[in-house]
Parts: sequence; C-alpha cells; structure tokens
Amino acid sequence: MKFTALTAALLGLASLASAAPTATPEKRDVYSPPVLYPHAGTVWYSGQTHNVTWDNSNPPQNISNRAIIELRWNNQGLPIVLAHDFDLRAGRVEVQVPEVVTSDVFGITLFGDGGNWSQNFTIIGPIGPF
Ligand SMILES: *[C@@H]1O[C@H](CO)[C@@H](O)[C@H](O)[C@H]1NC(C)=O
Ligand SMILES: *[C@@H]1O[C@H](CO)[C@@H](O)[C@H](O)[C@H]1NC(C)=O
Ligand SMILES: *[C@@H]1O[C@H](CO)[C@@H](O)[C@H](O)[C@H]1NC(C)=O
Ligand SMILES: *[C@@H]1O[C@H](CO)[C@@H](O)[C@H](O)[C@H]1NC(C)=O
Repeated sequence: MKFTALTAALLGLASLASAAPTATPEKRDVYSPPVLYPHAGTVWYSGQTHNVTWDNSNPPQNISNRAIIELRWNNQGLPIVLAHDFDLRAGRVEVQVPEVVTSDVFGITLFGDGGNWSQNFTIIGPIGPF
C-alpha cells in the first residue's frame, strides 16, 4: 500500500514534469547558405569526386534542417541525392558525380528549404548530349 502510494506520487510528479514547458525553448534555424562550387564554367565528369563548397561564414547556432545536396537539371529539381546528413558548418562535402547524359544546365541545391541553388555547370557523362 505504502509502495503503491509512493509509486503513484512519483508517477504524478513525472507527468507534471513532462507536462511543464521547457524552461529554455530551443531556437532552431533553417540554414541554406549559398553554394560557391560548382559554379558557372565548372566541368565535372561522371565518376569523379568533387568537393561541393558553400559559404559557411555565418551559420546559426542551431540548425533545424537536414543537410541534403541534390542534383538538378535545367532548373528543375531531380530526385538524385548526392550527399546527405553531412556537417552544414563544414563548408564542403565530397560528392561523386553520377552517370548522366552530358549537359551544361546541371545545378546543385543545398537544402535548406528552397533557396541558394548553384549556378549552372556542366557534367560530361558517358552519353550525349543529344
Ligand atoms: C541551441 O541549442 C542549445 C541546446 O541544444 C540551447 O542551449 C541554446 O540556447 C540554443 N541556441 C540558440 C541560439 O537558440
Ligand atoms: C576535399 O577537401 C578536403 C579538405 O580540403 C581534401 O582533403 C579532399 O582531398 C578534397 N577532395 C577532393 C575530391 O578534392
Ligand atoms: C541564401 O543565403 C543568404 C546568405 O547566407 C541568406 O541570407 C538567405 O536567407 C539564403 N536563402 C535561403 C532561401 O535560405
Ligand atoms: C540554368 O539554365 C536554365 C536553362 O537554360 C535556366 O532556366 C536557369 O535560369 C539557369 N539557372 C541559373 C541559376 O542560372
């Protein structure tokens, strides 16, 4: 009986504690810094490894978004992920260039929620351009 009462009291305290608002709510910021490389004039070849770099001079203390680098083509996003869950503060991450049809309107997005695409650059693939 005593044990049960104590347990109930502890459970009551625990639920009170979890219901209480956190004393210092965490401020988390979406971070989508500008891509510096690749840029206009860059030429990559399928199979190569390159460092994508971005301006990491002013990161927020807490970053809320996942780090994802996507390839895009002709101004459209593509479901091709070149790198993910890397350190956004590092300013660079190595990616391997996939096999694509040769084109000079490839771009890179660094997520973020929608901004700061790279300039268009060229990938020389195993086939094309058509
Ligand atoms: C960042 O998060 C930590 C805890 O993870 C917190 O103590 C700190 O106040 C937060 N900083 C900002 C600027 O929100
Ligand atoms: C990427 O950058 C790191 C650090 O500067 C360097 O060690 C590495 O060799 C680079 N990778 C490529 C493919 O250039
Ligand atoms: C792009 O980068 C600039 C400079 O860091 C920043 O001010 C801007 O908010 C970023 N754009 C997006 C959509 O995150
Ligand atoms: C890349 O090329 C496409 C197609 O020509 C164009 O619509 C787009 O504005 C270019 N993007 C940039 C960032 O220059």
